[in-house]
Amino acid sequence: MRKRSWAEPYKIKMVEPVSMISQEEREKAIHEAGYNTFLLRSRDVYIDLLTDSGTSAMSDRQWAGMMLGDEAYAGSENFYHLEEAIRKHYGYKYIVPTHQGRAAEHIISQLLIKEDDFVPGNMYFTTTRLHQELAGGTFVDVIIDEAHDPENLHPFKADINLQKLEDLIKEKGADRIPYVTVSTSVNMAGGQPISMKNLKEVRALTNKYGIKIVHDMTRVAENAWFIKDREPGYENHTVAQIVHEICSLTDAATMSAKKDALVNIGGFLAVNDKELYDKACNLVVIYEGLHTYGGMAGRDMEALAIGITESIQEDHIRARVGQVQYLGEKIMGMGIPIVQPIGSHGVFLDAKRILPHLTQDKLPAQALAAALYVDAGIRGMERGVVSSGRDKKTGEHIYPKLELVRLTIPRRVYTQAHMDVVAESVEAVYENRSSVTGLAFEYEPEYLRFFQSRFRKL
Ligand code: F0G
Repeated sequence: MRKRSWAEPYKIKMVEPVSMISQEEREKAIHEAGYNTFLLRSRDVYIDLLTDSGTSAMSDRQWAGMMLGDEAYAGSENFYHLEEAIRKHYGYKYIVPTHQGRAAEHIISQLLIKEDDFVPGNMYFTTTRLHQELAGGTFVDVIIDEAHDPENLHPFKADINLQKLEDLIKEKGADRIPYVTVSTSVNMAGGQPISMKNLKEVRALTNKYGIKIVHDMTRVAENAWFIKDREPGYENHTVAQIVHEICSLTDAATMSAKKDALVNIGGFLAVNDKELYDKACNLVVIYEGLHTYGGMAGRDMEALAIGITESIQEDHIRARVGQVQYLGEKIMGMGIPIVQPIGSHGVFLDAKRILPHLTQDKLPAQALAAALYVDAGIRGMERGVVSSGRDKKTGEHIYPKLELVRLTIPRRVYTQAHMDVVAESVEAVYENRSSVTGLAFEYEPEYLRFFQSRFRKL
């Protein structure tokens, strides 16, 4: 068959100039940032792949929606548009807007977790686990073992190991497990999807024991794309239908709308249980704002309502995930080890295999991210031992199997030519990998240390 390429389903209407500072200036900048890419100034960055969070380009329709902001303190029209979009596309009954995802995680954790509870999930996420711990719970990883192996080609590495989950329920008792966190497109595993088959089995198992499922739906549309692409029986479903079906198998959801939903700020908690909703409304006024705006401006709720609709369109999601695949295939073609299969929101460099001369206590992924910045001003982030933090009981570093540098692709922002430049820079760093030296902590904050830690070169 004749090859037919896809192209971005949009054209560019406004541009933001970017440029690269000199090698000398980059060396100075990363040194001053304590070798932590989070502490760089964005003006010193050429191609910013730190995160796909809040970095999307909004559409002309979303910008038009911003002009329709109803900034009433209570009962804003935009809240009702947002509620309608969530009910229609995700199917949850009640929603509480929050300023971003972690605020929704805070509220649900405080409402459902009691001291000494256990919260199983398909791999941890940094903020999610912390809120579970702050509420008195202990996170338990029940993802399949394949997820921890960067070379394993399992098509649904975010699947839950049902045996592990049931063993935990039997060991601790269902009354000490308030819910299971099911994330779609698991971030820390490299943007890997869960299959519908597995999710249905998790639903059946949790129903048997009367346990809720809370869905971290931050990247649900990306997960749905992989189901359409890989799971038998779903090839003729639309992404919109798959998204709806995923949500229908869960009881509540936390959303960082800064990813999938194409806005620069925002999130929400969605629930089906009216009593839980009433309690969430009561908590949100303490931490965020009134329940019809949470932590959001009216105009931002409007942009989000439109962004949700755009996020599940086939041509959008094909191009979104397609661009990530393009970069991943290019880097793989250079013989450089990355997490496979290539994920939905970024390419994850395998720092353990790239820098075998650095043991994990020398923070290889942190060092690799810094080296990449110095090479061509490309900013990625560490997703390894620094992100993993310390064991809350022993105080020791938690050494995860995956020691990765994430090159996260913002949505609708960069072109294929930017991806080529990124791949070339990764190749240059790879060729000089033996010269990359390890790092040691110089300053380490107590919570979510990867954001603000400073390091020195060994
Ligand atoms: N859940 C997942 C899966 C996430 O990726 C994030 C954020 C959150 C929850 C928290 O949401 O940032 O809106 O409070 N991830 C960002 C990232 C920070 O770069 O991966 P938030």
